[in-house]
Amino acid sequence: MLTTPANIHTVCSETFKEYSSWLLRVRVFGHRVPNRLLYHLPSSSYGHPCLISSSSHLPEYNRVIKMAASETVLRLPLGSLFSSCHLPSFSLNSTPLLSFKPSSSRKRRGLRCTNTLARGDTFQSPDCVFKGKKLQSTRCRCQRNDVEEDIRSNLLPSDGLKSDLDEMPLPVNGNLSSNGSTQSAGTNSIEDEAWDLLRQSIVYYCGSPIGTIAANDPNSTSVLNYDQVFIRDFIPSGIAFLLKGEYDIVRNFILYTLQLQSWEKTMDCHSPGQGLMPASFKVKTVPLDGDDSMTEEVLDPDFGEAAIGRVAPVDSGLWWIILLRAYGKCTGDVSVQERVDVQTGIKMILKLCLADGFDMFPTLLVTDGSCMIDRRMGIHGHPLEIQALFYSALVCAREMLTPEDGSDDLIRALNNRLVALSFHIREYYWLDMKKINEIYRYQTEEYSYDAVNKFNIYPDQIPSWLVDFMPNRGGYLIGNLQPAHMDFRFFSLGNLWSIVSSLATNDQSHAILDFVEAKWAELVADMPFKICYPAMEGEEWRIITGSDPKNTPWSYHNGGSWPTLLWQLTVASIKMGRPEIAEKAVELAERRIAIDKWPEYYDTKRARFIGKQARLYQTWSIAGYLVAKLLLANPSAAKFLTSEEDSDLRNAFSCMISANPRRTRGRKKTQQPFIV
Ligand code: GLC
Repeated sequence: MLTTPANIHTVCSETFKEYSSWLLRVRVFGHRVPNRLLYHLPSSSYGHPCLISSSSHLPEYNRVIKMAASETVLRLPLGSLFSSCHLPSFSLNSTPLLSFKPSSSRKRRGLRCTNTLARGDTFQSPDCVFKGKKLQSTRCRCQRNDVEEDIRSNLLPSDGLKSDLDEMPLPVNGNLSSNGSTQSAGTNSIEDEAWDLLRQSIVYYCGSPIGTIAANDPNSTSVLNYDQVFIRDFIPSGIAFLLKGEYDIVRNFILYTLQLQSWEKTMDCHSPGQGLMPASFKVKTVPLDGDDSMTEEVLDPDFGEAAIGRVAPVDSGLWWIILLRAYGKCTGDVSVQERVDVQTGIKMILKLCLADGFDMFPTLLVTDGSCMIDRRMGIHGHPLEIQALFYSALVCAREMLTPEDGSDDLIRALNNRLVALSFHIREYYWLDMKKINEIYRYQTEEYSYDAVNKFNIYPDQIPSWLVDFMPNRGGYLIGNLQPAHMDFRFFSLGNLWSIVSSLATNDQSHAILDFVEAKWAELVADMPFKICYPAMEGEEWRIITGSDPKNTPWSYHNGGSWPTLLWQLTVASIKMGRPEIAEKAVELAERRIAIDKWPEYYDTKRARFIGKQARLYQTWSIAGYLVAKLLLANPSAAKFLTSEEDSDLRNAFSCMISANPRRTRGRKKTQQPFIV
């Protein structure tokens, strides 16, 4: 019998039949049938999920039930066996025993958790007790507005004067820091303040912590989507919690976002690939369908269909895999990554990334703004940040995939891609004085298999700023490579994560850090760390950004400085045995980051101003700082995030390198452990 949610993820063929008939039964009794089931087909080489959406697909559904007789595993929405979830059963420190009901309507989509309390009932949730006072509300208790009012009337001075507390962010949806106050006793130190702020940014779904809000700026007039949990923004939060031994929030985040992965998502009738993870999600409380006296909480994801510019969050799934691996390494609990639904989630992401297309390169082809820089910035094509995260996710996935029938093809595809990708990036993206000189002397229009200038780069492309900027010692990976185009800008996250994931060779990794040290005044200056260098100006800015007023030169994505990047800098410098680089940067940040109220970014060449439109109390600025501090205090913990190149990859790489015409003209046959 399927009785507990724990069973849901390991349903096997016999129980599947039972479950199917249960579904049909509940439908007959007028309950909602979960409208999406995902399961493996044994015949599929990549474990392709099969999708059934909405009860209107019943014929298909019946077909699946028949096929399921030979099926091994089934992936179901968490808790979909329960028609509602009862708030009194919530426990902050437990795996959520909730009901998630995919909604078929466009307006009311998302995961649902039903509050079965009738409006007007009094309810005491453990998470909603504030200073001994029960919050009384007819709706779900964890609403920001209710709690804000309570706090203001209970805590803040009532004489109408503004106090410092007015400037402090409030708990996000009714939940306070663990000690039940908005500030802990030891707010003297920046770290204590950061922890308080991080805790106040926690978002709860039906009583369980599931993520952190992007920014908790009490003075911001337009919230836009900064009140949502962004997948990429949560990564430093999640790591900070892991390093602090607070695992539940990370586990919940991993499992809830996984449920969103298989959601229906469309933009103007077009659906992106099924493995796509949302850019962000929001917890909404809405009246229950057909019963206005009740409310339910809904997880409402945004896959880019509401995002400014409608950009695709390609990095979300890659970060999700990286966090999943870090969770396993840090907690020692591999049961999460071994779950059938989690394994399927990994495979769906990989399938999407490894799908064949028209591309000639092993790098992942994406549209502009598909990562941290989520606006038009001329990073369409094969931007370094995506490649570094892609490589990292492949390495992490390889470690976590459990061998099973039918996964051989996937593993083979993954291994081949790892080798080809690392070769491509190390060879063609690398830039130092020697390479610039090589490009400067390139022959062009080489039609042949053994061309040295494979991408037909015209030497005139070398920008004048680069000639003086490149130090004699050090180098970096360029931002992007396309036919006849090299984007020579330095992008920090891509370079730092190439070190962390070992996409860059050991020598290259050291050279990147040498470069950072040599260019400290440009890349760090008054606040770490420049998102990219240099800024685009004038006509170039006008054409490439589309005259974006947010991305003016030396602001925001266009040469702005982002404190969150401190954590990636720290992991990279610890990995290379050079933590003093991160220490110096953290020390610099500490001088003003808390005084400036944890801005999202800084502007100007030397990062002297708080960014023009920067949010204050930006969560990933806070979490990035905390992760940097925690790792510097305990450098061995950086291993949860780093990957070392294994001998298979190293051998395959050296075989490829010796066959490269840039080194040895002419095509040579080499023995390769992987088919590339
Ligand atoms: C901005 C950033 C993006 C971040 C989001 C939320 O859009 O460019 O990387 O995820 O804000 O903080």
